[in-house]
Amino acid sequence: MTDTRTTGLFITFEGIDGAGKSSHIEALAQAFQEAGRTVTLTREPGGTPLAEKLRNLLLHDAMDPLTEALVAFAARRDHLVQVIEPALARDEVVISDRFTDATFAYQGAGRGFDWGKLLILERMAQTGCGLEANLMRSPDLTIWFDLPAAVAAERLATARVPDRFEAQPQEFFAAVASGYARRCEAAPQRFARIDAHQPRQAVWQQVVEALQARGHLHAVRGVAA
Ligand code: TYD
Repeated sequence: MTDTRTTGLFITFEGIDGAGKSSHIEALAQAFQEAGRTVTLTREPGGTPLAEKLRNLLLHDAMDPLTEALVAFAARRDHLVQVIEPALARDEVVISDRFTDATFAYQGAGRGFDWGKLLILERMAQTGCGLEANLMRSPDLTIWFDLPAAVAAERLATARVPDRFEAQPQEFFAAVASGYARRCEAAPQRFARIDAHQPRQAVWQQVVEALQARGHLHAVRGVAA
């Protein structure tokens, strides 16, 4: 449950590698700034000096599945305590490129790590870092870029040197996508599913509509309301 006392807004972007989130994240941050909001733009794994070190380990060093999940949540805990909670307490808009749904999708559905254990780790890592003792911090809105794994694979084929996840076969990403779908089914009010297999402007239109439908953004330049 999210604390309703703060007016800060916590938005996360999710999707398989190659789903095309990046430029939309930048554009959304700019739209909020133009609307007069202060924006903290961040990412996971990462967002603090310690969490960026953990990101490097997670992306490049082989480790067993529990270690991988613990590293992801250790990075998240530091990120929450150092960056996300303080920014929300200042009533800022926090936009994070990935958050906990990625751990369920990649480590859970992708790697096959126990879903129930991830739920326990989620509660441990996201409780008691700014909210009342028993409240767990979750995003207010998760913008999920849904894209067939085959299309993402085509896009990634021309990308830079792959990290440990990007180097996975297409079936891995199909599993990751099913993990996102499972998280979306479990919390449909938190998720906005974006059809990411569309031209860039049509995808942006969907992002803006998702924000406007929830009353988070009003007029946005270049997009009809
Ligand atoms: P990504 O966010 O796609 O950054 P970049 O665009 O720089 O590659 O890369 C992060 C990778 O880490 C991505 O493949 C997903 C993976 N990941 C996990 O496996 N678990 C997690 O909890 C998170 C946040 C990311």
